[in-house]
Parts: sequence; structure tokens; C-alpha cells
Amino acid sequence: MAAPTGLLWERDPHTEAKHTLLRRYLSAWFPIMSKQFRETGITFFDGFAGPGEYTNSKESSPAIAMEQAIRDEVTSWRTQTRLVFVEKNRKRAEHLKQALETRFSATTRPAGLTVKVYHGKCGDLYEQAIADVDGWNGPVFANLDGWGADTHYEIVQRIAQQPSSEVLVTFKDQFFIRFAEGKEKSGELVFGHSDWRSVNQLSTAEKKPFLFNLYRKALYEASFNYVLTFEMIDEGGQSLHLFFGTNNTVAVEKFKDGLWEVDGVSGQRFRDPRDPNQMAFDILKPDFGPLESRILKLLGERDHTMAELCNDALLETIYKKAHVKPAVDRLLTQEKVEKASTGRSYDERVFRLAAQTRLL
Ligand SMILES: C[S@@+](CC[C@H](N)C(=O)[O-])C[C@H]1O[C@@H](n2cnc3c(N)ncnc32)[C@H](O)[C@@H]1O
Repeated sequence: MAAPTGLLWERDPHTEAKHTLLRRYLSAWFPIMSKQFRETGITFFDGFAGPGEYTNSKESSPAIAMEQAIRDEVTSWRTQTRLVFVEKNRKRAEHLKQALETRFSATTRPAGLTVKVYHGKCGDLYEQAIADVDGWNGPVFANLDGWGADTHYEIVQRIAQQPSSEVLVTFKDQFFIRFAEGKEKSGELVFGHSDWRSVNQLSTAEKKPFLFNLYRKALYEASFNYVLTFEMIDEGGQSLHLFFGTNNTVAVEKFKDGLWEVDGVSGQRFRDPRDPNQMAFDILKPDFGPLESRILKLLGERDHTMAELCNDALLETIYKKAHVKPAVDRLLTQEKVEKASTGRSYDERVFRLAAQTRLL
């Protein structure tokens, strides 16, 4: 979809799925963080906030953040909660202010909740906008949902270095593939260097994984210990990547729970971009073949405990920890895998490849 030029536009299935995921994640993030960071306060930063609604929906990232921030289980901790929205388009910024006022009137907002809407560019304003609300005193969740090629690396680095902070970045490889030869400088701003231009010399099949791996590496280099990524594909075959960077494994689990609960969003399929052979799957009809292949590959390298297999699935694949036990059970039934030792708990149980699989 070309970037809309009007004030409002129609919400597409990608955006609907992103909203579902964001709502699920924030429904965990706000209560957990407001309990844990009562001293410092917490900040939700929306760097590409949009107008606050769509022609066909009242849902939007700012509205979702507001809804989640005013729930009793968040406000009961009396933690300073700041919501900071930045929007480049003046009319959209004004519309957002009005839409938030209409739905969540300032007079009814809980004490301790600060809401600010700024008109300007995310890259120019983020530092000061977050400072204005004392946001750099505590954790920041930054939703960086631009058109897919506009989140400056500098912002990601800044958030990564802020303790207990996280980013969710929308990334579209098509843009970088199209403009690698031109003078367009957005790529340098997004990756922090010009290596992305090598995409130009690659075959069509190599381009997407190359860009995806380069951006993933950039998030690790920014100081995030964990980077979750997946590709969302709609009915028309249009795709976008979401990158979630965090330093907390519980956050990875919560985010994945959100992803696996993105149901009811028609025609939305997911793919783990790290596995080039994996077909996109509907989250309602998942394909566990790639998980089983990965477990066999890991066991081909050495024996692993159940806990190690679960951690690998959590951090290195699109699957959840809870998917691992049934996958191992299937492999045991098929006699591809066997138990090497029982261990004191199920987590400590060690698995190895069955002799017949080792010979293959
Ligand atoms: C994908 S939309 C955001 C949708 C919104 N996050 C939501 O979920 O409802 C991207 C928005 O970013 C704005 N935008 C584009 N470049 C920007 C920039 N450099 N800084 C701030 N906003 C920008 C656009 O005007 C547009 O409203």
C-alpha cells in the first residue's frame, strides 16, 4: 500500500493484526511495569502516532495505549504513567489530540497519567519529548510504527540503552530493495551504515533474508539481548516485518503469547523470516514441521535438555515454549528422538537423536 496522503485512511488487515498484538502485549506491559517501576514512572512513546482513528475503525495505537494505561490494575499502583505521541503531519496530530480528548476526556483521566501530543518528526523530537515528561527516568516502550523505512537507528540505540526499555519497529524490505541504487538516504538512517546497499548485488531470493538479518543484527548491536521478528503476510501477499527488541525473557514470552493470540484477523498469515524454507501459516492452523526440524537439527549437534529446547524455541523461532513438549512427544512416538536421561524434573530431561535418525 502506498503511504496515504489524506487525514484518515482505511485500516488494512496488517494494521488490524498489529493492533491486536499491541493490545495483547500492552495489557501485560502496563500492569507489570507500573507495579515494578513505582519510583521512576513508565513511558509509552508512539513515534509515528497517526491521526488516532481510521475511516473504518476507532482503533489506533494511541487509543490502545490509552485504554490499557487507564485500567484499574494499572492506575491502582499510582505510578507516573506518561504517554507521548509524535506525528509529523499537522492535521493528523491535531486530529489525534481531538480524538483522544473525545474518547478519553482530560477531566476523566486518572491522576498520574500524562498525555502529550507533539507535531513534528520523530527523529527530531523524541529526545526532548520524552525528557519533557521525565520519561528518561524510567523504562520506555517505543512503538515505532512508521511506513516501514523511517525509524532512525539512533532512536533504537537510545531506547536500547535505557534500562528495561523496549522497541517495536515496523520494517518493510520492499522500500530498501527498490531504492538501493538511488541517492535516497533513508536506509543509512535506518541501519546506521550503508551496508544495506549491497542488497543490490544479490539475487531476488537473497534480498529479503539479507535485509532482515542486517536489521536484526543492528538491533543486537544497539544492545538488545533478545530480538523477536516475524513477517506478516496479508491475503494480497503484501508483507511487513515486525521487530521487537527487549532485554527481558518474560517480555519475549508475553510478546509471543500476544502473537499466537492474534486470531480473528482474517487472512493474516505469519512466517518466521529466519527459516527461508518455511511456508507462511495461519496462526489458527499452525504448521509445527519447522519446529520439529529445528529440534532434530539441535539434537544432531548434541544432546539437549527440555529446558534448552524450550529456550531455543522461545528466542530463536516463531514458536512458544509450550509448543516444544508436544513436538518432542511426536518425535519420540515416531522414534526419531529418544530420552538420554530422565533428569530430576521434566525441564532437566535430556533428549538425543534416535540411533536410526543419526544414521540418516
Ligand atoms: C503507519 S502510520 C501510524 C499508525 C499508528 N501507529 C496506528 O497504529 O494507528 C504512520 C504515521 O507516521 C506519520 N509519520 C511519517 N513520518 C513521520 C516522522 N518522521 N515522524 C513522525 N511521524 C511520521 C505519518 O504521517 C503517519 O500518520
